[in-house]
Amino acid sequence: MPEPAAFTGAAPAAGGPPAGGELTIGGRRLPTRYFLAPLAGYTHLAFRIVVRECGGVGLATTDLVQASHLVAGTKWARELVRTNPEDQPLAVQIYGGVVEHLVAAARWLQDQGYQGIDLNMGCPMAKITGTGGGARLMCRPDAACRLVEAVVQAVQIPVTVKMRLGWDAASLTAPHLAREFENLGVAAITIHGRTRQQGFSGRADLAGIRAVVEAVRQIPVVGNGDVLTVADAWHMRRETGCAAVAIGRGALFDPWIFRRIQLAERGAAAPLAVTPAEQVGFLRRHYELMTRQHGDQQSCLMFRKFAAWYGARLGIPEDLESRLRRFESAVEFAEIADQIQERHGTRREARATAELRLPNGPIEHW
Ligand SMILES: Cc1cc2nc3c(=O)[nH]c(=O)nc-3n(C[C@H](O)[C@H](O)[C@H](O)COP(=O)(O)O)c2cc1C
Repeated sequence: MPEPAAFTGAAPAAGGPPAGGELTIGGRRLPTRYFLAPLAGYTHLAFRIVVRECGGVGLATTDLVQASHLVAGTKWARELVRTNPEDQPLAVQIYGGVVEHLVAAARWLQDQGYQGIDLNMGCPMAKITGTGGGARLMCRPDAACRLVEAVVQAVQIPVTVKMRLGWDAASLTAPHLAREFENLGVAAITIHGRTRQQGFSGRADLAGIRAVVEAVRQIPVVGNGDVLTVADAWHMRRETGCAAVAIGRGALFDPWIFRRIQLAERGAAAPLAVTPAEQVGFLRRHYELMTRQHGDQQSCLMFRKFAAWYGARLGIPEDLESRLRRFESAVEFAEIADQIQERHGTRREARATAELRLPNGPIEHW
């Protein structure tokens, strides 16, 4: 059996990190400039905590939550915003097309002690845009501005906006909207360098992100899209001039990515080596935190979809990844984790299964 290897990630870019001191957003001081982007179905409390424990996360955002559900107090909406003192700094992302719902949700969040609200204007999924929310708002700049203004006026905590470059290549509204939102008091903008029409195809357009950076006067712009390594993160900052970088899928592929960037920025001589024991420990810890919130049964269902992302990075052999996609109890999970520990690193396919099947196909069918 080959010796299980510690995972070190790709080598950092030559030339060192981009300049940048402390970053604040709406008065909140953030420990690093590298943020965990919201990933619906994944960035629940357990994942946020376990990634924060790896180190280097500057800010995390919840999955998108429908504003009307939050106000109505539906069980799932309340679970999505569940947090604890270790889960800081945090922003809660809300969406919807009705101003009153967003205002009520924002006030409720402030009253509960949350310290940041992120408005989703980027989600391409039909079920989100169908509510008038998500990326659909980018097609209606006046409505988007009224909505943003109402939310900013309703609360004292910072309000940020996450959006795409525009609806499609013929309507790149992000720079215009970013400037308007800054005038209305938004504290920062996160910009995913694709249009809604693109879905996740192609590459994030760094020139498009730069256009947003250049459109605002002083608020931080957070660049987002396709950052998988330290080199990608630095490239994003250099090419776009963005103040910070949000990383989504990169954190599922490599939960230590934030720590790697932090160490590289501090001039570490060697890249971070994550031992096999740490990799399996991470897997167990994530599942354990999940069961604390959701119980054994629901956690089985929720954890299964992480298997396709974790497989390659956590040294999980293909047959055990396949079992992780189907396991049915906490006892079975423990048994699979023991086997992963024993046979760690004996995987043949280096790429993660999820990398091979990202959402694609006609965007209308999402
Ligand atoms: C499975 C999945 C779920 C997502 N959920 C959200 C969401 O709830 N809110 C949001 O603003 N963006 C969401 N996104 C978009 C990501 O935050 C991010 O903008 C996009 O994945 C590009 O960044 P990345 O290449 O670092 O992943 C999601 C993306 C994926 C793949």
